[in-house]
Amino acid sequence: MSARIGVIGCGWWATRAHLPALAANPDAVIAGIADPDAENRARAAERFGVPDERVFADAAEMLSAVELDAAIVAVPHDLHAPLARMVLERDLHLLLEKPMTIRPPDARALAALAAERGVELIIGYPWSYSSQVLAVRDAIAEGRIGAIEYVSCQFASIVRELYRGNPEPYRDVLGYSVNPPGLKTYADPEIAGGGQGQTQVTHSAALLFLITGLRPVSVAAMTEPFELAVDLADAAVVRFDNGAIGSLGSTGSVLPGHDEILEYRIFGADGHILFDVNEGVAVIHGHRGEVHRLPSLPAEERYPDWAPADNLVDIVLGRAGNGSPASLGVLTVEFVDAIYRAALEGRTIRMGGGS
Ligand SMILES: NC(=O)c1ccc[n+]([C@@H]2O[C@H](COP(=O)([O-])OP(=O)(O)OC[C@H]3O[C@@H](n4cnc5c(N)ncnc54)[C@H](O)[C@@H]3O)[C@@H](O)[C@H]2O)c1
Repeated sequence: MSARIGVIGCGWWATRAHLPALAANPDAVIAGIADPDAENRARAAERFGVPDERVFADAAEMLSAVELDAAIVAVPHDLHAPLARMVLERDLHLLLEKPMTIRPPDARALAALAAERGVELIIGYPWSYSSQVLAVRDAIAEGRIGAIEYVSCQFASIVRELYRGNPEPYRDVLGYSVNPPGLKTYADPEIAGGGQGQTQVTHSAALLFLITGLRPVSVAAMTEPFELAVDLADAAVVRFDNGAIGSLGSTGSVLPGHDEILEYRIFGADGHILFDVNEGVAVIHGHRGEVHRLPSLPAEERYPDWAPADNLVDIVLGRAGNGSPASLGVLTVEFVDAIYRAALEGRTIRMGGGS
């Protein structure tokens, strides 16, 4: 049996990550694709060999016309909630791109709907599948550094031109193998819901929650758009449910030609971990002065961008659990929302309501 997958949205990310992953997976069939943009749709169909009768302008039409086991939604942020709902209401497993939704009530509603329908909802965070990330998570869960007391996270990426609505300068560095990102996808606040917070902090925050198990309870923050219509730099100070505190900062200002940076420094009562995700280096400093370096990760394994689609196929075939579940997506949507509210209102936001 093959997993029959429908892909909704044939822009940059679907054609760069999900469709190549499905095309290379011997247990998957690209059962249909849907995109209202005729050029993106045609280029995707041609590159991935999807016959005309399985190519649709309208996602609802594809869902009615084609037998599917699961779907992938990779569309601009403002359309995540309605299109994900359309898929889940048909009892299909779903890989939904990050951020799960712009607004927390929509994320909570989608998670509840997936649970009610008995289907898996994966959120597209490739780092959730990195073997090194999972090793760091396990080391912390085993108590290698004791109870966490302080964390810092720095994420600096190459995205400023996307927020300017000018994706072309990043053609090589971001790899537009078939279709480039839409001009408004990341630049229009109505569509994207924000800049660095929705597009990038969503990754670094989800990863922090995944590896530490910490849950944020209050957030103070500043955001800065500089010349843009959306935030370019975000800085948050956070208190977590176990009493730990930490800071999480991010900017989209790294220039092409320089390496992106994603670093975690996690301090426990019995040691600390320095984790450079982009360099693939994780070092545990234990309480007796011992230093343990986890196996370093080859460059091609540091961002497993095919893993979410492969996980969807494995879920359909009943041979894996959900490696990047809706609960992580909901928590992260709530956190990014708290950052924006804290910055806008100039006060500490208590997550779960109130201030
Ligand atoms: N996980 C990652 O590392 C990663 C990386 C890049 C992008 N993304 C996410 O992927 C999503 C898509 O981003 P992108 O860069 O590919 O954007 P994009 O602008 O390149 O593509 C979006 C596509 O969706 C199509 N679309 C619009 N309305 C639609 C509808 N109703 N039905 C079907 N298709 C529709 C557009 O025509 C376009 O082809 C975003 O949520 C983005 O945050 C994730």
